[in-house]
Amino acid sequence: MKTGIPPLIVGNWKMNPQSVSLSAKLGAEFKKRLSAISGVDVVVAPPSIYLESVHRARNSSKSYALGAQNAHFAQLGAHTGEVSLPMLKDFDVSYIIIGHSERRALGETDVLVNEKLLAVIKAGCTGIVCVGELKRDHGGHYLSHIEAQVRKALVKVSRTKLSQVVVAYEPLWAIGTGKNATPADIYEMKLFIEKVISDIYGRNYAQKVRVIYGGSVSGKNAQELFVDGMVDGFLVGGASLHPEEFIQIVKSVRER
Ligand code: 13P
Repeated sequence: MKTGIPPLIVGNWKMNPQSVSLSAKLGAEFKKRLSAISGVDVVVAPPSIYLESVHRARNSSKSYALGAQNAHFAQLGAHTGEVSLPMLKDFDVSYIIIGHSERRALGETDVLVNEKLLAVIKAGCTGIVCVGELKRDHGGHYLSHIEAQVRKALVKVSRTKLSQVVVAYEPLWAIGTGKNATPADIYEMKLFIEKVISDIYGRNYAQKVRVIYGGSVSGKNAQELFVDGMVDGFLVGGASLHPEEFIQIVKSVRER
């Protein structure tokens, strides 16, 4: 854990749940359960179309922050199907997931990820940049893949803005498979990502970037992954739709 920076738990609902009323119900449930928990930054990232209902369900409690799963880098204009940062900020969105592998699979490039991160920082929000390898090879090529993703995302990002950057290590083979990376894998990658950032900005500035893990995080494995993986938090998919389990994950990062 970084000195003075609380751990971060992000619930990425992806394209769920199936209706606006279910999203409001989940939003209200999280408000109730999270109001008693402190010392952890919690973010709920519903589909953009549900932001209004979750925003309303959360009301003024601020027991969790709102996140978006994507944002366009332009302020407004001819960008069919896109949502801008000013629009998201109207619903009090303060975290944006950028370059999730499910979006990269649809053609989102490292250049676009960087453009989005720069826009997110300019808007005063925090960008959660997702990186991850498709598979692990014995030659260690996955390390150079991760290094390239991190370096390309950070082009032109000033060191004074690094507190608005989170890197989420999400190996593709661990997403939605029930096969999480081991604590040792996670620890190795966390140190590696921090080293890459340190090489660019220096150690002190690199300490401002939270490095979190995502990929089959559950109520059962969260504690071990947090304690032995030494990460600064989690990006949670499937389990973030189950209040009981999500709260268990949030609670698991209160102590190490
Ligand atoms: P799961 O937790 O469902 O594996 O998803 C991880 C993820 O992609 C979060 O962004």
